[in-house]
Amino acid sequence: MINTLRNYMELSSTVADIVEAQIKEHPLSKLGLSTGSTPLGMYKELVSRELDWSTVITFNLDVYLMYVNHPESYQSYMRKNLFDRTNIYPNHYHFPFRPFSSFEDKIKGSKGIDLCILGIGTNGHIAFNEPGSSFLSRTRVVNLEEQTIIDNARFFDSVDDVPTQAITMGLATIMESKKIVLMAKGLKKKSILNQAMFGMITEDIPASILQEHKNVEIYYCD
Ligand code: PGA
Repeated sequence: MINTLRNYMELSSTVADIVEAQIKEHPLSKLGLSTGSTPLGMYKELVSRELDWSTVITFNLDVYLMYVNHPESYQSYMRKNLFDRTNIYPNHYHFPFRPFSSFEDKIKGSKGIDLCILGIGTNGHIAFNEPGSSFLSRTRVVNLEEQTIIDNARFFDSVDDVPTQAITMGLATIMESKKIVLMAKGLKKKSILNQAMFGMITEDIPASILQEHKNVEIYYCD
């Protein structure tokens, strides 16, 4: 089911409520975190709630292959919007790293992701698992689709500055999360979201694999 909320503020606070409850009920939680424009309001809301992040461990879903201190890197994004504004320990947050098997082992070694916050791309990607990604995929380097590069050009001076490659958790990695919450904002996401949640389960629409997850919640606003 897709939960449709009235506006972006409600979307942000609803998902922030879920993260807050997770952290309060399970202070040793392992969270999977996403970037992009959609979760910005949720991060802002979480920062304002001054939660105790001291025992929380996080795994970001993906990073661009680019200079990590570039202002538009996902490492910079996370520090600016969440990590530097909470009491999380720097050695408790993780971005996908090489060798990828060690990153996967790190997730498994921490007993897996309890709550994974996802977005969806206009082409149906989750994290940077572009259409055609195997449902069995794990953390790896991927080439970004032209549509993703165009969609993300708004964060850069020009489309030519958008990285063309990324490291992403795989679909199998994401599906091992105990609970998944997908947030989507804007009419341009509505059709792909409906196809992903109610259409055929196909690698052409990576998000459609979520239909097979037992504990997934979808939140959407126009
Ligand atoms: P957006 O990105 O939140 O910036 O729309 C979502 C995504 O591509 O997964």
